[in-house]
Amino acid sequence: MDQKVTELLNDQINKEFYSAYLYLDMANFYAAKGLDGYANWYEIQAKEEQDHAMLFYQYMQNNGQKVTLEAIAKPDKEFKELMDPLKAAYEHEQYVTSLINNIYAAAQEAKDYRTVQFLDWFVKEQGEEETNASDMITKMELFGSDAKGLYMLNSELRSRVYSAPSLVL
Ligand code: FEO
Repeated sequence: MDQKVTELLNDQINKEFYSAYLYLDMANFYAAKGLDGYANWYEIQAKEEQDHAMLFYQYMQNNGQKVTLEAIAKPDKEFKELMDPLKAAYEHEQYVTSLINNIYAAAQEAKDYRTVQFLDWFVKEQGEEETNASDMITKMELFGSDAKGLYMLNSELRSRVYSAPSLVL
């Protein structure tokens, strides 16, 4: 495999685990505020990010590449208002999309079409993640300033259940 593509794939394992850590910190923030629905949403989000990390890990191994695990950074965002994690999540997903696009471009450049095909699932997934994150902001803007509205939003998010990723390697 191309060295640059391999390095980027390896790096992405770390970035996805960092994403899990970041979302767990958001769950932690909402749990402390008594918003168990929001906490549930971000706990599940954190699990999905661990799945993403494991997909990159498995893909590397399936292709005979040695994985190097680096330290996972401490979540560095400060949350004060209920809206803060929602905006940080949206920005973070836009950043992750740029990382995926970057690997995609490197794989295309290296004519590594197997990796391009593997990444197609992530390109679609990032579209969904950005839409979900942006919807969370819109709903908070529309209903979150009112106690009844916030109660309703929190109840809605409590019903989210975890499901394993649709991509199987
Ligand atoms: Fe693994 Fe939220 O992207």
